[in-house]
Amino acid sequence: MSKYDARSIATKILNQVIWQRRSLTDCLSTQLVNLKDSRERALAQELCYGVLRWLVRLEAVLQQLLHKKIKDKDIHVLLLIGLYQLIYLRTPPYAAIAATVEVTRILNKPKTTGLVNAILRNFQRKSDKILAIVDNKIDTKFSHPSWILKRLQTDWPEQWEAIAIANNIHPPMILRVNTKLVSREKYIDDLKEIDIAADITPYTNYGITLTQPVDVRKLPNFTGKDVCVSVQDGAAQLAAEFLDVPTDGRVLDACAAPGGKTAHLLECYKMEHLLALDNQQNRLDLLQDTLQRLNLTAKIKQADACQPDNWWDGKLFDRILLDVPCSASGVIRRHPDIKHLRKSTDIVNLVAQQALLLEKLWPLLAVGGKLLYVTCSVFAEENYLQIKHFLAKQPDAHSVKLITDCGQAQIYGRQILPGEFDGFYYACLSKH
Ligand SMILES: C[S@@+](CC[C@H](N)C(=O)[O-])C[C@H]1O[C@@H](n2cnc3c(N)ncnc32)[C@H](O)[C@@H]1O
Repeated sequence: MSKYDARSIATKILNQVIWQRRSLTDCLSTQLVNLKDSRERALAQELCYGVLRWLVRLEAVLQQLLHKKIKDKDIHVLLLIGLYQLIYLRTPPYAAIAATVEVTRILNKPKTTGLVNAILRNFQRKSDKILAIVDNKIDTKFSHPSWILKRLQTDWPEQWEAIAIANNIHPPMILRVNTKLVSREKYIDDLKEIDIAADITPYTNYGITLTQPVDVRKLPNFTGKDVCVSVQDGAAQLAAEFLDVPTDGRVLDACAAPGGKTAHLLECYKMEHLLALDNQQNRLDLLQDTLQRLNLTAKIKQADACQPDNWWDGKLFDRILLDVPCSASGVIRRHPDIKHLRKSTDIVNLVAQQALLLEKLWPLLAVGGKLLYVTCSVFAEENYLQIKHFLAKQPDAHSVKLITDCGQAQIYGRQILPGEFDGFYYACLSKH
């Protein structure tokens, strides 16, 4: 039997994310397998997501409790896990403290047992006072790095607070149903039969929102010969609808991996040709797995989209989906490690990459064709300002109005803020 439990595995994972700056998704996938019990796995996951969601606030609380810095990184992280349980979980405090203190023994650091116990008990005694102090500063109150809050305040002077709150809330689980194979109503009935409650997702033609997240293995026809369902946020599902591909059109999905939108395009449209391009082979492997699960096929190529000489056959595309690399500031609630791993200096590089992708792919679009620019960002610089600069340089490009009630119109394109859906930006550009 493994000597590890949920809290010790969460300590390992958070140590890797916080100090080695690795992605939470990667660390979870390699570490959670060490826990055989599904409840322990669920608790480890909850602790990791929760601590990263509230990291800025938890660090501020810890500072109030320490006389000097804790040098041992495991113990530092373990204290954050202990504080997270005391502030945010309903575990009885005595049980949370006892189980957290026990981890010092599992990690073979018995000399720190007394310290962890003393700090957590001290917090219990002074919690009201300490929380009032840390919540005096907005970055600790909303648990965001100050550079992100400043950008939100500049770009969204009226909505920044709601965005910051939404970023700290567990997102809903939304499914995409292949309605060519089964109607949403029928799939909702199938779910009801196994006690999974769900509703039609507004604004989309394919979405179903689950009342509670479930393990995908419980979903009817998630795999097998009648496969008909995928997990995809409602905002991401709009891409295929907005792209509006003509029958037998030639389509380029220029930044395709891991393939959620590629699969949706293949489910929706009959195309002459869909080329799914990405510059990262490991991510294209995920795309391949997704298409295989859904019995779909596309032409897949690993290449830098900015260098068409290396991959383009010279035939113009009727549609280009350009789902660019971005800050992912619209999906912080799904990937709370973004708040910790992204740096303010990343944005300028991302904006330059996005501009280059637009510039290099525009000539590959046929006259009368459309390019759909997409980000999962809420920062104006990556979104409508990026498109504004592009249109100023490209006289044959025009911004097309997107027909939807979802999100809000910008000077160019449409912004969806995190809430009912993830935060996404869409701009549809046509060539004249
Ligand atoms: C936002 S993700 C795409 C998500 C994908 N469209 C989906 O729905 O699953 C951006 C992708 O762009 C890829 N990428 C970044 N720069 C690229 C480039 N110059 N050429 C091709 N792909 C690139 C990244 O590897 C990443 O997989």
